Parts: sequence; structure tokens; C-alpha cells
Amino acid sequence: MKWRDQEVSNSSFAPTFAEIVDARRRRFLSLGGAGLVMNFLPWSVAAAARAGRAAHPLASFASIPASFEDKVIVPAGFVIDIVHAWGDPVSDGPAFRADASNTAEEQAQQVGMHHDGMHFFPLDGRSDHGLLVVNHEYTDDGLLHADGMKTWSAEKVAKSMAAHGVSIVEIRLQDGRWQVVRPSRYARRITAATPIAISGPAAGAEAMRTAADASGRLVLGTLNNCAMGVTPWGTYLTCEENFNGYFKASRTPTPLEKRYGVSEKTAGYRWHEFEERFDAEKHPHEANRFGWVVEIDPFRPESRPVKRTALGRFKHEGAFVTLAKDRRIVVYMGDDERFEYIYKYVSKKPWRGGPGGDLLDEGTLYVARFHEDGSGEWLPLVYGQRPLTAENGFVDQADVLIRTRMAADAVRATRMDRPEWIAVHPQSGEVYCSLTNNARRGTPESPGLNGANPRPENLYGHIIRWREQGGDAASLRFAWDIFILCGDPAQEAPHRKGDIRGDLFASPDGLWFDPQGRLWIQTDVSTSALGNAEHAAFGNNQMLVADPTTKEVRRFLVGPRGCEVTGITATPDGKTLFVNIQHPGETPSERSDPERPLAVSSWPANQFPHLPGGRPRSATLAIRRADGKPVLAA
Ligand code: FEO
Ligand code: CA
Ligand code: CA
Ligand code: CA
Repeated sequence: MKWRDQEVSNSSFAPTFAEIVDARRRRFLSLGGAGLVMNFLPWSVAAAARAGRAAHPLASFASIPASFEDKVIVPAGFVIDIVHAWGDPVSDGPAFRADASNTAEEQAQQVGMHHDGMHFFPLDGRSDHGLLVVNHEYTDDGLLHADGMKTWSAEKVAKSMAAHGVSIVEIRLQDGRWQVVRPSRYARRITAATPIAISGPAAGAEAMRTAADASGRLVLGTLNNCAMGVTPWGTYLTCEENFNGYFKASRTPTPLEKRYGVSEKTAGYRWHEFEERFDAEKHPHEANRFGWVVEIDPFRPESRPVKRTALGRFKHEGAFVTLAKDRRIVVYMGDDERFEYIYKYVSKKPWRGGPGGDLLDEGTLYVARFHEDGSGEWLPLVYGQRPLTAENGFVDQADVLIRTRMAADAVRATRMDRPEWIAVHPQSGEVYCSLTNNARRGTPESPGLNGANPRPENLYGHIIRWREQGGDAASLRFAWDIFILCGDPAQEAPHRKGDIRGDLFASPDGLWFDPQGRLWIQTDVSTSALGNAEHAAFGNNQMLVADPTTKEVRRFLVGPRGCEVTGITATPDGKTLFVNIQHPGETPSERSDPERPLAVSSWPANQFPHLPGGRPRSATLAIRRADGKPVLAA
């Protein structure tokens, strides 16, 4: 099997989403809408009323203005507290040292860095006691070590690896405050060094085997854990996003490496200097063992996490789970890179209650193609179904999954504008996806990377939505439209003009529906763009709430300087909303100067004086209403 020697079948000449949107607009104008064979009919006000939805679902709070202040701001009547921050012990382990002098071994017993997607798992259905599972996406090694990256050592690599992964902490509400339970039998860190099983069609494939693992079924660690998902059987799915940045090729990259961005230039984390498996020249298969969705059972601390290869290999943003009409498992997933794709997985068998078994190992992976008439289709990525055949260089289903992006190129999926989170409306079943932005429009020859066609396009991102045919998540056809085009309706320039009704925002990333069907939107304007002339109106990154029926948007929270807001979950009673503040104080280079750790932000110690200062820290917020009513009240 010579899969590594195959040339990339560069079939990614398919239209981009921006081109399809343009074509749809032109078609609509010329035909007055008659040419749209699949007009998207959003959930109506009447249907919303029948579902018991409040008449004014955003009326429970007054929106707040954009802000550049170095603190978290929420509307009057809401109170915030910190559940945990980077470096806090997950159980009765070592305390955080504000000078970053904690060792790698200590970090492995502490909450990781750069909180991202998360979920609250109630214990015994309770709303005052449960397990909080939090992803840690990446590290700012300028803050992680006392002298940053000025010197470099095996110990620093080990600490960075220990600050990645996932934290599981037991939390309890006592006297109105959420406290981490210490000690806890559930408390656990999963890091970039934790043994993780590999299952599904790619497990054991030759391309998954390494010198350290001849079976191709066991890998050390998970990394760049971005967004997440939750299964109906109560497990957590953590998703590996920009895994390529940890590997260095040190030679001309293979076509596969190139397609996934493993290159001579990457590996800014410098792990490969002391952890040889991240040197792609010496260990060419190791990178194939990353870029997957990993299932974790938070209730069984002794259980080994599992990489579920049937869900494909790409820069996974999240894995958002819903049920088809016949109770098959459906998982929606975005590949967050410019011009990458939206996928969904449908299990072979229905879920009949109880543990998931092989439901995430046996099923079909599809990729989305959008049409200019407002319809769309899901294209199967199945070995043997044309064009994924031997004559086009595909070897077997393991090969299709390890090279998911190339399989999706071959079927001519639609190249999207950086798909981030996906959320399913709890009543209508409509699926919403944030496309965070795409500052340069590409051509087939040059997908926007070298400025060959530098017209700014989709500068602020948008949120799209689709409705699966027959309201069934397993359908292979759908109808789509753009829910919100971000940007300022008052702007003249087409690439800056949006259609937001209400408070302005840009670069949508986190999306979450509360049980009442309100869409919560979290933003991630990159630190290099935050506050620049084109982004001045938006302020710091923030969280807003949208009414899917009226499209009204209200700003609910603004984060401190240099942060993104990401990760959201609630207790079953709706009285506590947990939200993550990631990388407060981040500099445009994404790496802090260790001499000046507080150059951009002093959060959270400046707002919560009981916490040690010294350096900014990612943290989980608990948000409650001062009057004790549900945050999510109508
Ligand atoms: Fe990790 Fe695409 O955000
Ligand atoms: Ca994200
Ligand atoms: Ca980010
Ligand atoms: Ca993002």
C-alpha cells in the first residue's frame, strides 16, 4: 500500500461557498425567486408559538454596549464568578503558582491552558453537583514558563503537553458559589501524553502504525482540543483541530502532509525538539494519529479515551450530535480552515438506549455540497463508490478516512469559509453553522493564499443554516440560507456590510441553543484584528443571543482584552450558565513576552482580587441571576 506516494488528486476546483452565494443572489434577482427550487422556509412564528416558545425570548435582559475594558461585563441583574482557571488543581493536587514555576508533573494535575469547548454532566440529574469537562486548546508558552521560550528543554515540552487536552473536575454549588470538589474520585486530566485507543475503520491500518505502536491502535495523547460534542449515552467528544502545528516535516512534505498543513515551517510549539514522534521525518505516521474525534467517559475515570476514526480526519472544530428520525446517531462537524468542508456522520444502526457500543465506529461519513438554487446534498465518502476507487488512488476505507480532505476534494464538496461550531435547534431541527470569516477570496489555482485575487470577501463571517429534507437529520438532501451576515448594516463597502438586526458582532465561532431555542453566539475575532480600523465597532470578543425567528441579536457578555469567548453549557435547571474566557491578554503573535505577561490584560485577578495576579489566565465563568431565577428564563 503506497498511499503516501500518491499524488494529491487536486480536484478542489469546486466552487467556493462565496461563489455559490453570489450565484444564488444573481439568480434570485433575475428570476424574482422563481428559480429557487428549494426555497428555505425558516421556522415560522406560528410554529414557534405552537412549540410554547416565549413571545419575546430575548426580553429577559437589556443588551450591553461593545467594550474595550479589561473585564467581563454582563447585563445588570446577573452575577459572575470563576469556577476554575488555568493552573488550579483538578483535585487535591498542587496549587497554581502565579510566577509560572509549576513543574510539568504539577501541570498534569492542574487545569490546562486555553479553555475551549465544555459540557456540564449532572451527577444524579442534579443542578448543583456535576462534572465539568473542559477542552484546553493550545498553550501560550510565553506565559506557561517563567522565562517563556528563551531557553527550551524536555521539561518545558512536557509542561506544554500537560497543559493541553481535557480537564474533568467535580463541581458543587455551595452557598451560591460553584466550588471544585477536592479530592474527587472523578477528577482527571487527559493530556497530550495520555494513552488513547484508536477504533473504527482506520484502526490498525498500516498508515496508523509507528515504531512505538506496531498495532496502530494506541496513541499517546490528544491535542488542540477545540470544540466538542455530547452523546445521548452521556460521553464527551473532544475534537482535535490544528494538529499540524505540532509536527515538523524537515524535508519536502508528502502530498498528504501538504494537504493537512504539516510542513517544514510549522511546529512552533517546538515539541519535536525533545519528543521525537513529532518529527515527521523520523516518524511519518504519527501525524496520521491526530485530527480525530475522541470519546471520553467522564463518569468512569479509569476508562481509556477512544479516537473514533469513522468520523474522519481533518481539523475538527466540534462534533455536534443529534438523532435521526429512526434514532440513528448523526454527528455534524466542521473542518476549520479556509475553503474546507462541512461533514456529517450517520451511524449504521439506531441508538436503542444504553451505551454507544460501536455506533461511532460503524456508519457513513458525508460531506456537504451547496447549490445555488438553495438546495444541498450530502455526498458519501465511501471507498469503492466512485470516485473513491482504486483507479483514483484510494486503497480502502481506512485510506479514505485518513485522507478525508482528499476524498472530499474528489467528490467536489463545497469549499466553505472556515466552518466552526454547529448547533441544532431543539424544536425545529434546523442546523446552524458559524463560518467565521474568509478574508481573501480564492481562485482554483490559488485558494486565496498568495493574494492573486485579493478582493476582500466575507471579512466578518456569517451564520448559515439548513433544514434537512423531511426534517430528518439522516436525509441526504437539505435546503439552506444565510441566517446572519455579520458586519455593519450601515457600511457601504460590500465586504463590510452585514444584515445584523441589533447588536453588531464579527467572526462568530461558538454556537449553542438553549432549551428554549435561543441561539447563543460567541465571537473569536483574531487578536491581530481585534480593535483595528475594520473591527473597532465590535469591541472585545463577546457573547450574544439571537432569536432564530425574528433574527434579533442582543449582546449579553463582553470579555476582557485579548480574549476569545468560547465554550458554553448550563445546568439542567437553567440557573447557571458556564462560559469560557480563552487566552485573555493574547498578543497579536499569540505568544506573550515573558518579561511583560500583563502587557495586554491582567484578567482575571483585576476583576476577582481573591485570585493571584502575575499573568492572565483562561478561566470558566459561572453566570447566575442575582434574583436566583433561571438565567435562561423567558
Ligand atoms: Fe479552535 Fe476553529 O476554533
Ligand atoms: Ca473555535
Ligand atoms: Ca481562536
Ligand atoms: Ca475561531
